[in-house]
Amino acid sequence: MKPLILLILGTAREGNESQKAFNYVRKQLEARDDLELKTVECAEYIHNKTIAPWQNDPIINPWKELVAKASGFVIITPEYNHGYPGELKLLLDQEFNGYKGKAVLVGGVSDGMWGGTRVIEALVPVLRDFDMRIVRSDLHFPNIKQFNPEDEATDKLYSELVKKSIDELLSKIG
Ligand SMILES: Cc1cc2nc3c(=O)[nH]c(=O)nc-3n(C[C@H](O)[C@H](O)[C@H](O)COP(=O)(O)O)c2cc1C
Repeated sequence: MKPLILLILGTAREGNESQKAFNYVRKQLEARDDLELKTVECAEYIHNKTIAPWQNDPIINPWKELVAKASGFVIITPEYNHGYPGELKLLLDQEFNGYKGKAVLVGGVSDGMWGGTRVIEALVPVLRDFDMRIVRSDLHFPNIKQFNPEDEATDKLYSELVKKSIDELLSKIG
């Protein structure tokens, strides 16, 4: 059976630019025949308050069921004030045991030159607490407003980087 990968967009900000990086990674994942893909928008599975994993709740139960089915995760997230968007943390905090031992790849997004380096560094301790297997080859999308995958050189560079990271993600599954 092919592993199910959840591709998560880490922001619910209206008009967010991270969607461009998310769409790019989604296309790369969709083009592969060695995995199954489900895309996730944080807003679909969260309230505007914290619901703990042990609470029975009609909005978070589907999230817990999805996590149980998934073998791996790809999180594409912008950096907000050197941290992660609150809605991403709300989503993640709704489960705990279900993440254990599962593979995760993080892609950081920013409009500056650091490509979300600091959000990745902020997220890693959270993922470690879940006891996840974190892919070493993070993805970075700096200058996201200028990111244009229609440009051949950009596509070539990113498709190689994304492939390497997804290969690493899959190698951590199983
Ligand atoms: C609340 C907020 C905080 C931000 N903080 C940072 C930051 O710490 N570092 C950074 O490089 N960009 C920061 N940005 C700019 C984002 O990198 C920029 O908006 C980029 O387009 C990615 O975020 P988006 O997907 O919301 O558009 C911030 C943007 C917002 C909305």
